[in-house]
Amino acid sequence: MLLRIDHKFVFEVYVAFITQAQSMKRLIPILLVPFMLQMIACSEDPAKTLDDSVQYPAILSTFGGKIDPTALPAYSAQVIPAYVTKDNATGAITDAGATLGRVLFYDKELSLDRSVSCASCHQQEFAFGDKAVASAGVAGETGRHSMRLINPRFSREVRFFWDERASTLEDQTTRPIQDHVEMGFSGANGDPDLNELIRRLSALDYYQELFKMAFGDASITEPRMQSALAQFVRSIQSFDSKYDEGRARAANDGQPFQNFTAEENAGKDLFLRPPVFDQNGSRTGGGAGCAGCHQPPEFDIDPNSRNNGIAGVIGDPQSIDLTNTRSPSLRDLFNPDASLNGPLMHNAIFNSFASALEHYNRVITPPGNNQLDPRLRPNGNLQRLNLSDPEKAAIEAFMRTLTGNSVYTNPMYSDPFPG
Ligand code: HEC
Ligand code: HEC
Repeated sequence: MLLRIDHKFVFEVYVAFITQAQSMKRLIPILLVPFMLQMIACSEDPAKTLDDSVQYPAILSTFGGKIDPTALPAYSAQVIPAYVTKDNATGAITDAGATLGRVLFYDKELSLDRSVSCASCHQQEFAFGDKAVASAGVAGETGRHSMRLINPRFSREVRFFWDERASTLEDQTTRPIQDHVEMGFSGANGDPDLNELIRRLSALDYYQELFKMAFGDASITEPRMQSALAQFVRSIQSFDSKYDEGRARAANDGQPFQNFTAEENAGKDLFLRPPVFDQNGSRTGGGAGCAGCHQPPEFDIDPNSRNNGIAGVIGDPQSIDLTNTRSPSLRDLFNPDASLNGPLMHNAIFNSFASALEHYNRVITPPGNNQLDPRLRPNGNLQRLNLSDPEKAAIEAFMRTLTGNSVYTNPMYSDPFPG
């Protein structure tokens, strides 16, 4: 924005000068030289920069009313509840940066054959997840189940993916683009590389304008793409659930919430409290211990979590995968229509919450799993929670209070392309 102020300033001084100069005709050539030099140095007509609709014609013609450069959604000024304190953002989220990220997120130009965007596998109507077990990319299906992108900013864990192989969200964002199966700019197997994509995007007039709006000039680089995509992904937040309503009015999570049913409060209690085990790893009291790893009020994963025993690989029953130590936030497991937003776990093994809970009730894992989180192997035995049917129902009732509303339809997170 500084650049625009400069232009405007120079332009106004210039106009003032012309007016003055009417009476000082002989001085014009000398006095105007520095200003004319600066005008030449500026790459464009300063008059144009005075009006965004003139400055961003391609944004207006490409996105119609869906992106108005003079009135961007306030990504930078969203309300975050006071009880939410975890934050993995490393830089500022700007309205122009997140807007560029939103366009990149929904743009099929980012895949080799122009058939797939980030949003193909991260669908807003399903909490930015996918109902499919494996998601379809440009060259086959993904090896793991897609992850919901709900409150990705609000976690203690800064690493991303089920196996936490991306050290930051920025690092994560260009990996699917460079994945041979997902979006195809891998630079291997005869695929073109990311530079080829950057050339493709540079030729699109709306990216010239969007990068300029976000970063001050039109140059497209991988760090700029990563920053913009991460800004958009971090901007996706969901804090209007029944849980949030209750949490805002309570001193802490342990208090009964006034807006909860007795069953929901019982489920919350079970979720929060650690179990008490006997010598054989069989629960004799306490809760179900979920909050040890899925920590409220963000319900993000404990950074120290190891795997939870689920070790299967999609489409390959012979293999085991012990590397998955991350879960997306447990918020918005359920859609507002009460169905699950997609199957659960990295291998999408469970089609219901009840079956996921049953896994914890009676942990089963391959014998060679030396990476199992020790909390699930109390006293050296695989955990048995011995949950009663009412206890199971209560935990599920509580999980259903974690579903938000606006994130599923809010236009600031939705597809900006017309049609
Ligand atoms: C073809 C489907 C597909 C496409 C396209 C895709 N993703 Fe994903 N995404 C996945 C899958 C599958 C995972 C989990 C992969 C894993 O952990 O190995 C994932 C994981 C993620 C995560 C990690 C979430 C977490 O909590 O750790 C983020 C963030 C993400 N994707 C963002 C994006 C962005 C940004 C794009 C576009 C540049 C994109 N994805 C494109 C399928 C896809
Ligand atoms: C020791 C840590 C730990 C504990 C305790 C724990 N979880 Fe998990 N949870 C994980 C990890 C790690 C994953 C990701 C596993 C994977 O997909 O391989 C996960 C995944 C999940 C998922 C799937 C999320 C998704 O997006 O697909 C659900 C649902 C879940 N846990 C619920 C619970 C409940 C309910 C409890 C309490 C009964 C609980 N967890 C206890 C570590 C834990």
